[in-house]
Amino acid sequence: MFSLDNFISDSLAASKASDPVAALMALLRETVGDVDALLSALPETADDETLIHASDILTIYDIKLPPGILYPPHNHRMRVVIGFYEGCETNLIYKPGADGGPGADGGLKQVDRLDFQAPTVAMFEREVVHAITNYSATTSRAIHYYLGDLLEVERQLWNPATGQKMTFNNDDYFGFATSNQ
Ligand SMILES: [Fe+2]
Repeated sequence: MFSLDNFISDSLAASKASDPVAALMALLRETVGDVDALLSALPETADDETLIHASDILTIYDIKLPPGILYPPHNHRMRVVIGFYEGCETNLIYKPGADGGPGADGGLKQVDRLDFQAPTVAMFEREVVHAITNYSATTSRAIHYYLGDLLEVERQLWNPATGQKMTFNNDDYFGFATSNQ
């Protein structure tokens, strides 16, 4: 039977495989393929972001994205594997300037838009800069694996109004959220 404890231990085992990304993607494909089992095992909370596990090799979050909010561009400095299991989440992908700071035009340049309709699984490389939003009418939900300790890593956030790069912190991350309209 699917349980949160088993999911966490399976996830940790996958993150120690010779190809952790492939193993984690395979596990998430299986997991998002049975939404009822996943939902019954996840903790019930009104929070949009629920931390499920954090250690040196793996951080797991369950993330809900309500319609209409655009969160600011940020990186993770580690690989990310995401299993989308409800709704449709949009990821806007950005390219920083050559120095890793704002682009030559004074801000980050958006280079792609990816719409992830559940159920599906995706991965992002270490230095990817993205912003997440939900253009649909219903909340989207996804399990996020970060291949390292996301709570401890120094990573970056960009002010969407000015393109200015800064050290990531939760207050600014939520404070810079805007409408996606
Ligand atoms: Fe992210």
